[in-house]
Amino acid sequence: MRALVLGAGGQVGRALTAALPDAVGLTRAQCDIADPTGVDWAAFDVVVNAAAYTKVDAAETPQGRVDAWRANAGGPAALAARAREHGTTLVHLSSEYVFDGSHDGPIPESAPVAPLGAYGASKAAGDVAVVAGVDRHYLVRPTWVVGDGTNFVRTMLGLAGRGIEPTVVADQVGRPTFAVDIAAAIVHLVTTGAAFGTYHLTGGGEPASWADVARETYALAGRSELRVTGTSTAEYFADKPGAAPRPLNSVLDLGRIEAAGVVAPDWRRRLAEYVSAS
Ligand SMILES: NC(=O)c1ccc[n+]([C@@H]2O[C@H](COP(=O)([O-])OP(=O)(O)OC[C@H]3O[C@@H](n4cnc5c(N)ncnc54)[C@H](OP(=O)(O)O)[C@@H]3O)[C@@H](O)[C@H]2O)c1
Repeated sequence: MRALVLGAGGQVGRALTAALPDAVGLTRAQCDIADPTGVDWAAFDVVVNAAAYTKVDAAETPQGRVDAWRANAGGPAALAARAREHGTTLVHLSSEYVFDGSHDGPIPESAPVAPLGAYGASKAAGDVAVVAGVDRHYLVRPTWVVGDGTNFVRTMLGLAGRGIEPTVVADQVGRPTFAVDIAAAIVHLVTTGAAFGTYHLTGGGEPASWADVARETYALAGRSELRVTGTSTAEYFADKPGAAPRPLNSVLDLGRIEAAGVVAPDWRRRLAEYVSAS
């Protein structure tokens, strides 16, 4: 398989280039997905787009909206057009922020999108561009990504190391998705010839709140004597007027990707491995 990974400097991009050592990886400095000129599409069977504008709160600012839409909607649209033209399979990463979080229970791929903020709206537009633009697509939708880069777990490890007792939202529920598992799932879908379409993918195991993930991280880091105080999303963001609205339910249904043969490792096991490697 001749594969190209775009956004190779991000969390998922790094995991993908590790999982696909023969792939070509291009960072943002090497390829801007909103203007992907210079890529020899004939040289690749599969293009994986791991690039995105991921600053959820900054996306609510005037410049952030421009940047988010350019990367998250314009980027996938440009890639889909080229993939269709060249008969290339396009793998694209979506986000749970395309949903409003009001769904009762694990959210299936068929749930209606209803983004609450600018980041979610730009991601939803990118999803439409990919789904409508190229038949040969895998749209993989994770939540709460943890990999080599900036993420919630790394933030908590930093706070724990400094002896800080954080207040963390306890009414947003989901499951962390480790970048290594996203990469493995993408390789599985592409190499097994799974049906094209949209697949939800998160860690396995019982869903938890951000506060639960923080407590587990503190315990694994040997700092369980420090208190993690739970709060509501409304209270936490009451004094942060520019913050993006967050979906409360981020639990995704894994039935479709499991039926395709992907095993979602328990996020708690992955968290333990991640903390011990940090
Ligand atoms: N992080 C999460 O919790 C989360 C949750 C659900 C879904 N997702 C989705 O999963 C995918 C991967 O996320 P991630 O956590 O790996 O994000 P990440 O670590 O922020 O990596 C994204 C990468 O894309 C690059 N980039 C931004 N704009 C670009 C452009 N116009 N052209 C090329 N590259 C560009 C970024 O470069 P700079 O750093 O220089 O900007 C960064 O290296 C994204 O589609 C994201 O929406 C993420």
